Amino acid sequence: MSKVNAILQGTLNWVDERFPLTSNWKAHLSEYYAPKNFNFWYFFGSLAMLVLVIQIVTGIFLTMHFKPDASLNASGVPVAFASVEYIMRDVPWGWLIRYMHSTGASAFFVVVYLHMFRGMLYGSYRKPRELIWIFGMVIFLCLMAEAFFGYLLPWGQMSFWGAQVIVNLFSAIPLIGPDLSIWLRGDYVVGDATLNRFFAFHVIAVPLVLLGLVAAHILALHEVGSNNPDGVEIKKKKDANGIPLDGIPFHPYYSVKDIVGVVVFLMVFSVIVFFMPEFGGYFLEYNNFFPADPLVTPPHIAPVWYFTPYYSILRAVTYPLFGIDAKFWGVVAMGASTLIIALLPWLDRSPVKSIRYRGPLYKGFLAAFIVSFFILGYLGMLGPTPMRTLVAQICSVIYFAFFLLMPIYSSLDKCQPEPDRVTSK
Ligand code: HEM
Repeated sequence: MSKVNAILQGTLNWVDERFPLTSNWKAHLSEYYAPKNFNFWYFFGSLAMLVLVIQIVTGIFLTMHFKPDASLNASGVPVAFASVEYIMRDVPWGWLIRYMHSTGASAFFVVVYLHMFRGMLYGSYRKPRELIWIFGMVIFLCLMAEAFFGYLLPWGQMSFWGAQVIVNLFSAIPLIGPDLSIWLRGDYVVGDATLNRFFAFHVIAVPLVLLGLVAAHILALHEVGSNNPDGVEIKKKKDANGIPLDGIPFHPYYSVKDIVGVVVFLMVFSVIVFFMPEFGGYFLEYNNFFPADPLVTPPHIAPVWYFTPYYSILRAVTYPLFGIDAKFWGVVAMGASTLIIALLPWLDRSPVKSIRYRGPLYKGFLAAFIVSFFILGYLGMLGPTPMRTLVAQICSVIYFAFFLLMPIYSSLDKCQPEPDRVTSK
């Protein structure tokens, strides 16, 4: 052993006697045995972690120059709005940091939606991975809160009116609603107090919770082991040393493979950041280039694309029930449409996990669900008309039917037998 190696080994021993470094490296990387048949869908977990890091790092630099202040400056422009323009025009590389952060927000949802869809394709939420799914769902809700809070900060027209519409939804709750929405805003309208508290939640409270949840998500995953495209439990077949026959060490095999995903992702991400950061108004909305004006309501208020499926479900409820306003039931339906996803581990009764071995019933329902989700997302971007509302109502019914009828169709389905071992090399 060379002298340098001896010093490094000595240092490592010193650390290991005081901190579980090598043991954790082994448990989570070099001796964490992941199924050998991971495919393209398995890139999105590590990509979600990458986007989280991008958001935190760019967010820190934005916070250095952003001012959460709704008062007007000498030119009559809100200070918060002006500070974003200052970042874009005067801060060296500020435009890049800001576009990375705004594009990162949409990229986060693209990656997380694909990550969740992978879970649905391969039944990754099924026993023993229910807690991974639950942690994932809480992450998803926090992510939505994080995006909502962040969108108010630039204090543009859409920031202001979007927040106004969403906080006003709470006023539809019987008895406590009106007081609750004032309490949430800290004012009778969205104002400086709202901006300051949203800033606090956006830059520290929610990110802290998110980081903790991601750690719990990975710990839960490593406790039970990863699922795979065949939905076969690799821990059932082990060699004499207790190593799964179909498992390979995460490091170096998947650490290197994930780098391929990272490179492809960064290429696409860079093209958007450098050449189309507004992405046709889907990532940065046209109306948000105008400073917030409480006296001028934009003709058409729509949330950013990742919220529009749920927004459509909210608007699809047009009938009052039990003497309570339709708006309240819309809020209930919108809340239920996100929360119901968390129940998948208990709604799915299929004898197999992966879509590869499921029967036509599940495949049909899943296809109908995905098509409805896209239609709802599209309709949520448009203003309502009677025809669009009808289509949104039909799609909302399909959306909920996918979940509520799952215990029936997943147990009736004609599935193929699951193989003993993973099939792909
Ligand atoms: C910040 C957001 C998230 C991060 C950083 C993250 C990270 C990860 C990582 C690194 C893995 C292991 C690699 C992989 O299987 O792709 C994973 C697995 C998993 N995640 Fe997430 N995740 C996030 C959000 C979610 C959400 C929203 C859900 C679902 C509601 C979810 C459900 C799952 C499931 C079920 C697995 C196990 C997959 C399997 O073994 O087949 N995750 N996650």
